[in-house]
Amino acid sequence: MAAGDIAVARSVEALRQTVATWRARRERVGLVPTMGAIHDGHLALVRAARAQGERVVASLFVNPKQFGPSEDFAAYPRDEAADLAAFHKAGVDLVFIPTVAEMYPPGFATTVQVAGVSEGLDGDHRPGHFTGVATVVAKLLLQSLPDAAYFGEKDYQQLMVVRRLVGDLAIPVRIEGVATVREADGLALSSRNVYLSPQERRIAPLLYRVLSDTATAIEEDPGAVAAALERGIAQLCAGGFALDYLELRDAGDLTPMTRLSGPARLLAAAHLGRTRLIDNIPVGAG
Ligand code: PAJ
Repeated sequence: MAAGDIAVARSVEALRQTVATWRARRERVGLVPTMGAIHDGHLALVRAARAQGERVVASLFVNPKQFGPSEDFAAYPRDEAADLAAFHKAGVDLVFIPTVAEMYPPGFATTVQVAGVSEGLDGDHRPGHFTGVATVVAKLLLQSLPDAAYFGEKDYQQLMVVRRLVGDLAIPVRIEGVATVREADGLALSSRNVYLSPQERRIAPLLYRVLSDTATAIEEDPGAVAAALERGIAQLCAGGFALDYLELRDAGDLTPMTRLSGPARLLAAAHLGRTRLIDNIPVGAG
């Protein structure tokens, strides 16, 4: 069960056994779901759970259901030994690494679909993605039954989908959002950054710069959202990005905002060569 010095559960049964021993001792449990290729953004979630004094379960599962047919499921970076070492160093207590057959055995027929917040933005550009995410997150929560589960604001729409899912299904877990961890030049840490060529890596921070400048422009002139977005889109395209979207949305329910009238979020997705980058920032204290 232990790989090196860190405990690993590869079956739901083993996961539940360990969690049950903690529960018997009245210890609280935090879940950090990941797809591996662990970086400091993932570890910020682990640190947040540890700061709450929780036992930390990290899951490592590249979920086939959330990848489209032309997406990078097969090529997604996988390095279990490096991930276990990173989790161990960060103080994770147990790593749950199910196989695809453990998660989706023959006959598996249930999907969890969240309407509203999963529509538009990545929901439009990655059909079926959030259904795959909601299905696997619901499973992970019910398999581990944690007190809290931690998700990054880096994937802001995903965080909103998970909040909605947990509320609607009355799953008794606290969902904690954790601020995005960035490189010194502003680029949000992502497992997919390894795909960037050196030249693309030099261009990539423009995404955050444009988000920041656009957010400032909107805060200074709350009625001129469309003009600010147009300028941001032009800057990204001129910089070499192929844009999927740059949009201002309500920070709570993700409805589109044509003028800044409360806490908002500015969200973007854009391709740089074969790499798709997403990022977002708060606007107006969103
Ligand atoms: P993955 O992309 O591995 O991300 C796991 C968690 O780390 C997510 O909650 C994500 O938002 C968070 N994260 C990633 N980069 C971050 C950064 N730079 N700063 C802060 N948090 C960051 O997101 C997924 O996996 C999957 O969809 C998953 C939720 C595991 C379901 O399969």
